[in-house]
Amino acid sequence: MPRRGGRGTRPASPDLGDGAASGAGERSSRGATSVAPPARQKLKAGLLLRELGPGQSPALLRELHIVTRGGELNADALRKLKQINHLLRLLAPGIEGLLQRHEAPVLVDAGAGNAWLGLLVHEALLRPAGRGKVVAIERRADLVERSRQRAQQLGMAAFEAIHASVADLTPAAGEASSLGDVHAVLALHACDRATDEAIVLGVRAGAELIAVVPCCQAEAAACLEGRALDGTLSPLWRHPLHRRELGAHLTNVIRALVLEAHGYRVRVTELVGWEHSLKNELIVAERHQRQNGLALAQLRRLLADLPPLPLWLLGELMPTRDDHGFAGPAPDDALADPVAPVAPV
Ligand SMILES: C[S@@+](CC[C@H](N)C(=O)[O-])C[C@H]1O[C@@H](n2cnc3c(N)ncnc32)[C@H](O)[C@@H]1O
Repeated sequence: MPRRGGRGTRPASPDLGDGAASGAGERSSRGATSVAPPARQKLKAGLLLRELGPGQSPALLRELHIVTRGGELNADALRKLKQINHLLRLLAPGIEGLLQRHEAPVLVDAGAGNAWLGLLVHEALLRPAGRGKVVAIERRADLVERSRQRAQQLGMAAFEAIHASVADLTPAAGEASSLGDVHAVLALHACDRATDEAIVLGVRAGAELIAVVPCCQAEAAACLEGRALDGTLSPLWRHPLHRRELGAHLTNVIRALVLEAHGYRVRVTELVGWEHSLKNELIVAERHQRQNGLALAQLRRLLADLPPLPLWLLGELMPTRDDHGFAGPAPDDALADPVAPVAPV
């Protein structure tokens, strides 16, 4: 949900809760109104079969209110289902890899809302394997209670929902997570800083897979406001709309570089067509080495050319203090050296 100047707004959708479908009729951050069909438009039941992913049961979709009692899909729900199913297809190889390497991999759904993602991951990937666990973290008690009930009704014993802020469950640097081993952290449209909280949780817990589809992002835009530079860049953020767009883009670039610096191989792609959601950038990070000094050097150079961006993420995961307003953890010698050799995991 946008808090300050987010990347788009959407009408509340009581059936779908806070974790509802993204933005029917929402106002585009590019200034145009999305052409999405009305939220409550009923769609033909035949569409359901087309949208069902492998191993997906109509019972779960009914339980999630994706399908009405009459067996129809509604337009809001269809968009969300498309996004999640596409995300599942993209993440399946990574999660299958975790199942091969670990007896009982733990997957976190951070900022879970109604936990559609967590429940669908459980059904499509963990239940067939008969191993592993999904932990949904959500700060709204009502949504947590609802997803617990759903999991119980559907007999999903390996699904757990925790009422908390993601940051509250994040271990301090070098400490073990109270969640135990965490192998993957997923965050779909976790609002603003919650995406960063998911990234920090994943990195600190040593997750092998981190995948986020960021939601609105207002923190960087607020840092840029009123900051004129002598150089040529300041016109990039002079107008509020540009500031918001650039702020969100910069944040995602920084997220990707931070993950790379911490040893992840990062892919950034579009999740689904922009007609389905404006919050559509998918960042997938797979851990393959302990750290990456080149990525850190790139991040430093980028930040040096910008006004101070004391983003919370950088405060948590930037390896050293410097003159950009970060108060990160104590210096890590290897990461502090931009040409340090890359160490395999
Ligand atoms: C836009 S909804 C998305 C929900 C769900 N992932 C989905 O895609 O349907 C964002 C959810 O994140 C939750 N949230 C926001 N900040 C959070 C935080 N710091 N910790 C846990 N949950 C958070 C909100 O309560 C909300 O339910």
